[in-house]
Amino acid sequence: MSNVLSSILEVSQVSKTFRNEQGDTHVLDSIDLAVKEGDFTTVIGPSGCGKSTLLKIIAGLDLDYDGEILLKGKRVERPSQEKGFIFQEPRLFPWLTVEQNIAADLSLKNQETRDGVNRLIELVKLSGFEKAYPRQLSGGMSQRVAIARALLRRPEVLLLDEPFGALDAFTRSHMQEALLDIWQTNKTAMVLVTHDIDEAVFLSTRVVVMDRRPGRVKSIVPIDLPYPRKRTSRSFTELRTHVLDELDHREEQEAYSI
Ligand SMILES: Nc1ncnc2c1ncn2[C@@H]1O[C@H](COP(=O)(O)OP(=O)(O)OP(=O)(O)O)[C@@H](O)[C@H]1O
Ligand SMILES: [Mg+2]
Repeated sequence: MSNVLSSILEVSQVSKTFRNEQGDTHVLDSIDLAVKEGDFTTVIGPSGCGKSTLLKIIAGLDLDYDGEILLKGKRVERPSQEKGFIFQEPRLFPWLTVEQNIAADLSLKNQETRDGVNRLIELVKLSGFEKAYPRQLSGGMSQRVAIARALLRRPEVLLLDEPFGALDAFTRSHMQEALLDIWQTNKTAMVLVTHDIDEAVFLSTRVVVMDRRPGRVKSIVPIDLPYPRKRTSRSFTELRTHVLDELDHREEQEAYSI
């Protein structure tokens, strides 16, 4: 494992069992993961292997687990603004405008908040839509509002659970470029869950491949390609095949888009 001191996020021996009347479900088993400043980590694995569960635990949304999670050396005990969470669907307030959604509980009358909101509207390329309502936005635009809202809180790490899953291919590729741009400008560490191997290789500095029942880290594939990446390059195709090979079961491979 990498040096604890240089890690922003340290997941150590995290295990999780859901208990209910039907019995116990052991979902995560001894997960170790260290995220360093500037890392773009993508997590892939078969449906039900515990990716969302792991992300929620890291976010502090689920505190019932074994093991330890440290954010900048401090134990995660609750949700906090140091960890931005982006869900598959954007979860905006329909009665608030774009700028109000980004500010959310912060007042736009505060100059620092106002400046931050304006900077982020520019960063996520929504200039001109400050006063628009969610119903007037496309799926990709709504997701950019959600990302801006998370970034306004200056998170140490942004946790994204299949954020582009519901978008069409064109919007999705546009959002991938936007996310890379944000990552390179803000240097926020990213932890992204996706079902799309192409997306994983295009975006991240390494891909964490999970196994299921119970969910374990099967392997970590470093993606050592310079940005911007070319999907058609030989090294890109080779890495994509390598990640696909790591997902061992045929049916699971087929469920993945490449
Ligand atoms: N609240 C819960 N109670 C009981 N079991 C749960 C609960 N939430 C999740 N599970 C179980 O935990 C396992 C992992 O679920 P999780 O949603 O983390 O998987 P995932 O890897 O995100 O899957 P997907 O790729 O389909 O989103 C599944 O078997 C699921 O049924
Ligand atoms: Mg999930």
